[in-house]
Amino acid sequence: MTDALYEVRNISKNYGAVTALDNVSMKVRAGEIVGLVGDNGAGKSTLVKCLSGVHQPSSGEILLDGQERHWRSPHDAIQAGIETLYQESGLAPQLSVGANVFLGREEMKPGILGKLGFLAQKSMDARAHADLERVGIAVPSSNRSIAQLSGGQRQAVAIGRAVAWASKIIILDEPTNHLGARQAGEVLHVMRAARDQGLGVIFISHTLPHVLEVTDRIVVLRLGRVVKDAPTSTFDQESLLGTITGLIAD
Ligand SMILES: Nc1ncnc2c1ncn2[C@@H]1O[C@H](COP(=O)(O)OP(=O)(O)O)[C@@H](O)[C@H]1O
Ligand SMILES: [Mg+2]
Repeated sequence: MTDALYEVRNISKNYGAVTALDNVSMKVRAGEIVGLVGDNGAGKSTLVKCLSGVHQPSSGEILLDGQERHWRSPHDAIQAGIETLYQESGLAPQLSVGANVFLGREEMKPGILGKLGFLAQKSMDARAHADLERVGIAVPSSNRSIAQLSGGQRQAVAIGRAVAWASKIIILDEPTNHLGARQAGEVLHVMRAARDQGLGVIFISHTLPHVLEVTDRIVVLRLGRVVKDAPTSTFDQESLLGTITGLIAD
């Protein structure tokens, strides 16, 4: 029995002699934002890679909707409704906002070019605009190129794209890095919108005030192990920092 939408049970991951994850269990429910925090080297990115199908754990189980799954690649996880946004946004600067929202999944217009098709630019731009609006992102115009947008707007597009495509889980690895306060606030707003749509959200960040502000629960990793998994309301900034660094006993 589990009420988790997405869950890992006792996963470990070794890189040669290095144990990056040691018997890690965590879950995220539908309509919940879980913060994943820990010092550099704690294993956050390795866990994200296991959750998103980039890596296969050395041992342990991954369950989606209570069913054990084995991702062979990120494509498998994406097909199952799991979207991941990495620190590098993966946007194509020369393409329009609309084209970026559909990057890698372009709508092909059945047309005179037959099999090659045309990219259905207008329809992509319109749908991209609607998708971004639905998750609370106002972009001036989705036919603008990404290169014309500010850093915050670019990040908003990257997140909007992930939220628009995710049907179950969205994983955000340091999405508020290098953003100003107002832009970071917009990113937190989009995360809440995703949660309110019933997605499970996993938020990795070193910015503890953001984590405390937006999450429902916090999982703390230290040296590849979960040292704490508790409701956000049970932490303040000092106790969270102490748990991360190990200055406060588990
Ligand atoms: N590809 C890799 N090969 C070898 N060791 C790695 C690799 N990726 C990460 N590690 C090691 O695994 C541990 C966890 O790293 P990582 O998951 O990147 O932590 P975090 O994202 O929390 O900073 C670290 O000791 C790191 O050096
Ligand atoms: Mg990392």
